[in-house]
Amino acid sequence: MSVRERDDHAARAVAGAAGAAYDPLLQALTERLAWRLAAAWEPDPGAGDRLVCVTCWNAPGAALDAFAGVTRATVLSGGAGLPGRVFGSGEAAWIAEATVADGLVRREAAASAGLRAAVGFPIRSERGTVGVVELFGEQPREPDAELLATIDLLGLSLGQLVERRRAERAGRAAEQRHRATLQASLDCVVTMDHDGCVLDFNPAAEQTFGYASADAVGRDVAELIVPVELRERHRAGLRRYLADGEPRLLDRRIEIEAERADGSRFPVELTITRIDVSGEPVFTGHLRDISDRVRATAELRASRARIVEAADAARRRIERDLHDGAQQQLVSLAVDLRLALRRLDAGDAVAARELIVEADTALATALSELRELARGIHPAVLTEGGLAPALNGLVGRSPVPATVVAVPRRRLPAAVEAAVYFFIAEGLTNAARHAGDVQVQVEVVEPDAGGRLVVEVRDDGYGGADPAGGGMRGLIDRLAVIGGTLSVISPPSGGTTLRGEIPCGS
Ligand SMILES: Nc1ncnc2c1ncn2[C@@H]1O[C@H](COP(=O)(O)OP(=O)(O)OP(=O)(O)O)[C@@H](O)[C@H]1O
Ligand SMILES: [Mg+2]
Repeated sequence: MSVRERDDHAARAVAGAAGAAYDPLLQALTERLAWRLAAAWEPDPGAGDRLVCVTCWNAPGAALDAFAGVTRATVLSGGAGLPGRVFGSGEAAWIAEATVADGLVRREAAASAGLRAAVGFPIRSERGTVGVVELFGEQPREPDAELLATIDLLGLSLGQLVERRRAERAGRAAEQRHRATLQASLDCVVTMDHDGCVLDFNPAAEQTFGYASADAVGRDVAELIVPVELRERHRAGLRRYLADGEPRLLDRRIEIEAERADGSRFPVELTITRIDVSGEPVFTGHLRDISDRVRATAELRASRARIVEAADAARRRIERDLHDGAQQQLVSLAVDLRLALRRLDAGDAVAARELIVEADTALATALSELRELARGIHPAVLTEGGLAPALNGLVGRSPVPATVVAVPRRRLPAAVEAAVYFFIAEGLTNAARHAGDVQVQVEVVEPDAGGRLVVEVRDDGYGGADPAGGGMRGLIDRLAVIGGTLSVISPPSGGTTLRGEIPCGS
C-alpha cells in the first residue's frame, strides 16, 4: 500500500465512522426533494486540503449503487470537483445539464449511472464552511427555487450536526487520554462517588493496596484503604463537604496512613480533588507510598542524634581524661613547686632539689598524657603528614601484628583523611579485642575515576562481627556524614573485612 493509498484508507475509515449520523438526513432530503443520490463531504482531519466522502445515500438501483461506491472511495484534493468548488467558495453551485463530477473516474461513473444534474451546497457552522452536501439527479434540472431557499437553513442545521459530532470526538479522545494517563500513573489514583464508593482503581492502586480493580470498584473507600481509626473522620469530612460545600481537605497535600488488603499499614502522601463533572460530586484521591522517604528521614534523624550524642560523649571523656590525668599531675606539680620554694626560703636546698626533680617527672608524665589525649582527638601527624605516616603510627602501636598494604601518598581532603584514620583505628582495635590471634591488613585504595575511595581492614580471625554494635554504628555515621558507606563481611570463622567506600571528589 503506498503512502497515498494508506492516507486515503485512513481518511475513509474516519469518514465511515462519521457517516452514520448523516444518513437519515440525507435520505429524507433526497426523497423529499426528488433527487436520486446524496453525498456529504468533509475535510480529512489528517490533511485539511483534502475532502473525503463522509457518507453517500442513494435510491435503489444497481447503477446508482455503483456510482455511490465510487463516490465513497473518492478523495478530492486541492479544490477538485463540485464539492471542492463549493467548499472553496462557500457558495452553492449548480450543474443543470451535463454529465457531472470531478475526476475522470466520477465523470464516467456518473454517466453510466445516468446522472445529469447536480447541486452542491456548503455545510456551515461558526467556524465557516465545514463540509459540503452534493445531490444528484437523473433528469436535467434548472436551479430550483424551493431548494435554493432551503439550502441556507439545511447547511446550518447540518453544521450543528457536524459540530456536535466533532465535540463528541474530542470528548472521546480526551477520555481515552485520561484513561491512558491513569493506567500509566505511578501514583495510586482512586476515584470515588459522593457516597464514598470506589468508581475507579488504577493499576498502581491495585499493586500498592493488593486489590484487583474489579473487586475494589463499588466498595466503600473507607473500608477498603482507610485504617479503622481514621474511617469516621473520613466519612464525616465527606458528609460535611456535601452539606456545606466548604473544602477543608481538597487540593491540599497531606501525609496520612493507608491500609493494604493484608491489613499492613504504610504512610502515604494524599491529595483529594473534586472532578469537574455534572451531577453528584465525584472525587479522586492521588496517593503515593512514602514509606522509603519516611524511613530515610527517620534514619537520618536517628543518625544525627547519634552523632550529637557521640560528640557529647567524646567531650565528656576528654573532660574526664583531662581532669583525672594531666590536671591532677599539674596540681601536684604546683604543690611540689610551692613546697620547694618554702624549702629554699628555709635554706634547705637539698630537700628543695628533691621536690623539683619530682615536679620535673610529674611534668613529663603530664606532657605525655596530653600528647596521647591529643592524638585521640585528632592526631597531629595526620594533619601534618597525611594518611601514610599516620597509618604507620597506628599499625606500629597495634597490639596485633598489622601491615599497611597500600595507602595513597598524596593528600586527600581533611574530612576524608580523618574518616579513614578513625575507621582503621576502630578496625585495628576490634581485631585486637574480638578476632583472636590474627594478622591484620590495612588497605586504602586511591580514589577511582569516579572519585570513590575504598578503605579496608581485614583480619583472619573468628569472624561474626556485628554491624549493629556501638563502634560499628559510629563508623556508619562517621562515613554517612561525608556520603560514604560501610560494609561488614564477617562470616563465622571466616575472618572479618570492614570495607568503607567514600566519595572524595578527586
Ligand atoms: N574483627 C572482629 N572479629 C570478630 N568479631 C568482631 C570483630 N569486630 C567486631 N566484632 C564483634 O562485633 C561486635 C560489635 O563491634 P563494635 O565495634 O560495634 O563493638 P565493640 O568493639 O564491642 O565496642 P566499641 O567499639 O563500642 O567499643 C563486637 O562486640 C564483637 O563481638
Ligand atoms: Mg569496637
